[in-house]
Amino acid sequence: MHSLFDIYEYPDIEELKTIKSLIQNLEWSDGARSNPNNPVKVNKQAYDQALSAQIHQGIYKIGSYVNKVIPRRLTPVTFNKYGVGDHYFRHNDSSLMGGEHQILTHYSHTLFLSDPDEYEGGELRIYVNAVDFIPVKLQFGQFICYPSGVRHEVMPVTEGERLGAVWWMESKVINEPVRECISSITESCSYILDKYKDEHLIMNLQEVQDRLIRNFSY
Ligand SMILES: [Fe+2]
Repeated sequence: MHSLFDIYEYPDIEELKTIKSLIQNLEWSDGARSNPNNPVKVNKQAYDQALSAQIHQGIYKIGSYVNKVIPRRLTPVTFNKYGVGDHYFRHNDSSLMGGEHQILTHYSHTLFLSDPDEYEGGELRIYVNAVDFIPVKLQFGQFICYPSGVRHEVMPVTEGERLGAVWWMESKVINEPVRECISSITESCSYILDKYKDEHLIMNLQEVQDRLIRNFSY
């Protein structure tokens, strides 16, 4: 079965610690500026081209992530900061993001740059329907990847500070059910490899996956 979201670990934690120390010196602006029509967002945001490119390079090294989502292009990374009282109430991400170089948003990501014991509240809630949700509060260096159409929110921080990095990704596979099939095949291959080590079955599945990618990518 296709999972609603996946969690990955940034490949170089020491590099990420340096990035975390550098973002403290960036110019932070009111997060509502990126979406002035949306009163549900209260946080601080910052941008940096070099650090964004560094994070892009880092995540492209994660084979399981790249094989599953088949990235075509990414938005620049937005760094965000939630102090006490800050939040981002329930919303869906826009279908187009990235300012003047807009991309389609197939996947949304949050990279956690604070450990859970550095703040209270501030959990990311991923909604599975109109009322039920899965709470997500990851360790420093872990990131979540979920379909951009899924409703989500960041609960108010009640103590401490929650630092994060977010970006959006357009997949080469535009057709959603096909993308889910490819994603399921990737999950199945990794399961079969771990549990049964059946290379013949994996090869068959990869052939199906490659045919889907060849015929449905752009
Ligand atoms: Fe969002």
